Amino acid sequence: MDEYEKAFKESIQDPKSFWGRAAEKIKWYDKWDTVLDESNKPFNRWFKGGKINTCYNAIDRHVEEGRGDQYAMIYDSPVTDTIEKYTYSQLKERVSKSAGFLRGLGVEKGDTVIIYMPMIPEALISMLACARIGAVHSVVFGGFAAKELAIRIDDAKPKVILTASCGIERTKVIEYKPLLDKAINLAEHTPETIVMKQRPEAETQLDGELDWDELEAEAEETECVELDANDPLYILYTSGTTGKPKGVVRDNGGHAVALRWTMEKIYGIEAGDVYWAASDVGWVVGHSYIVYAPLLSGATTIMYEGKPVGTPDAGQFWRVIEEHNVKVLFTAPTAIRAVKREDPEGKYLEKYDLSKFDTLFLAGERTDPDTYHWAKDLLKVPVIDHWWQTETGWAIAANFRGLTQYPIKPGSATKAVPGWDVRILDPFGGKEMPPGEHGVIAVKLPLPPGTFITLWKDEEAFEKEYMTEYPGFYFTGDGGYIDEDGYIYVMGRVDDIINIAGHRLSTGSMEEALAKHPDVAECAVLGVEDKLKGEVPIGFLVLKAGTERSHEDIISDVIGMVRNEVGPIASFKKAVVVDRLPKTRSGKILRGTIRHIADGKEYRMPSTIEDPEVLDEIKEAVKKIGYGE
Ligand code: COA
Ligand code: AMP
Repeated sequence: MDEYEKAFKESIQDPKSFWGRAAEKIKWYDKWDTVLDESNKPFNRWFKGGKINTCYNAIDRHVEEGRGDQYAMIYDSPVTDTIEKYTYSQLKERVSKSAGFLRGLGVEKGDTVIIYMPMIPEALISMLACARIGAVHSVVFGGFAAKELAIRIDDAKPKVILTASCGIERTKVIEYKPLLDKAINLAEHTPETIVMKQRPEAETQLDGELDWDELEAEAEETECVELDANDPLYILYTSGTTGKPKGVVRDNGGHAVALRWTMEKIYGIEAGDVYWAASDVGWVVGHSYIVYAPLLSGATTIMYEGKPVGTPDAGQFWRVIEEHNVKVLFTAPTAIRAVKREDPEGKYLEKYDLSKFDTLFLAGERTDPDTYHWAKDLLKVPVIDHWWQTETGWAIAANFRGLTQYPIKPGSATKAVPGWDVRILDPFGGKEMPPGEHGVIAVKLPLPPGTFITLWKDEEAFEKEYMTEYPGFYFTGDGGYIDEDGYIYVMGRVDDIINIAGHRLSTGSMEEALAKHPDVAECAVLGVEDKLKGEVPIGFLVLKAGTERSHEDIISDVIGMVRNEVGPIASFKKAVVVDRLPKTRSGKILRGTIRHIADGKEYRMPSTIEDPEVLDEIKEAVKKIGYGE
């Protein structure tokens, strides 16, 4: 057995001893009573009884252990032409003062705090400051519309919102205050305090908000509080199949143990290495791999405020790698496709020295074989696709820089990571499928530490949506297969979630926006293939009889409505008016068939279709918006 096989086998057969050992790498105030408590399935609890503080493990312990002068975080912002470096000691001071002002604002252990910030150091500092005092943070991505922010405010009920005056998207300065004001107007819950980090690119006139810099300057440094291993660390909302996002809850103990383990075994990172996840703190990748995992490991993390292209050019990834000696870059395939589109021959790369660069990790969507080969040939380092979800917090399938590294099969996320007993089940009946056959992907319980412990204030939905359909398994919502060698192929969602540029969005929430248009009788939104973003949404509208406005105007209205209600990140740019939608005899819209038509793929006539002729109308309709060929 190779190293991976040994680890995998132990993690499944004796998870308590496997993760108990991994937990020794974390500093505990008090050790756990039991490694894994399965007395209240499926609400399993890791390290129950343990006492811990995640911020202490991410910052203070490194200062105590002599890493105080090592860089903890490098903020690299081509959009503001800034590079700032923070040692562990400097970060400790800023985080403990920020925790101090939060305390001063009445934030106590268990209170919630929403962080609505762009990729600036204060975003990371806010998260750690909350963790320091046991407040539960919920970061909201800047590209969401005010309504999405309002939904999160009402669900999380924050005592305080931490925000900044603006974000910068390429050359556009996006003011946050109007969005925040609108969200607070829409929400029923009102936070007690809003703290604003003023940025020189767009200072905001404060009306009631407190100034971050003033608060921090006057604050006292605050120590870490002792928390239970199972106390919540954060809530992160992610798209479900309806308009209501799901509040994924992560606890402190299992999260710290699992993330630290992954840094060593999956990414091959040790203390002192430089690790860069080119994502955003608003997404799970940002939580796990910009903030927590690199710092828990004593590495240096990069906060990059820019894009792969256009800020200002397609050479920025390579510049950052050279300039800060990055060992591992983690990004989404779409980012690599964006670079490839601008610089297909990789000319920018010639300007930089990437000799310290060791591995490119990709996730967020499946790495298509073309992107894999392009990156591999250009960079001449391993390119590793790995599969995970907001719910899981870390990779379910990967290849391993710190265990056995397997030959890559392009299109596969390689093997199940230790801790994950991955099975392919028949969607009709739940029987396990033989190698090579497609089905839904499920994970046998118990899940390893560091995944979601529940949905915020909604245990029922946690059970119903993930744990009930296939009893004894976690239902991932993805479909795919496992080959004879145990390689996992994740082929896409089996529900109404779509993946736009590595961002997870619900077609349901877009349909809700469309349905509000007074002229729309019925609608459907579905994801179609896109060369750059992987998938983009397109809308089909059936109008009410007697509608007087032109189709063009209605389409432009609904595009604006999705932008306003869901956000620009939904990239909803195309819709078409049709007379009717193809449906089954029981009235279900045949989304899969429409999607095949739009993608120009072969499709089978569904036996349950109500009227086959509708499909010809759909073919004509998608042609009008440039699809179906
Ligand atoms: N705040 C406000 N608006 C935002 C935003 C933010 N934080 N992030 C994105 N937007 C806006 C963009 O400005 C754009 O608006 P537009 O319609 O006015 O142009 C829209 O949302 C779509 O943004 P994006 O998906 O970034 O598309 P793009 O065309 O600007 O860039 C890529 C394309 C591929 C370069 C970009 O999607 C990318 O960098 N992807 C990597 C994704 C990633 O890291 N995912 C994390 C998972 S690992
Ligand atoms: P998110 O919760 O935003 O991280 O999105 C999770 C979803 O993205 C998964 O359920 C998959 O559908 C998709 N995904 C993420 N990484 C991969 C990958 N490496 N291969 C295939 N799909 C992926």
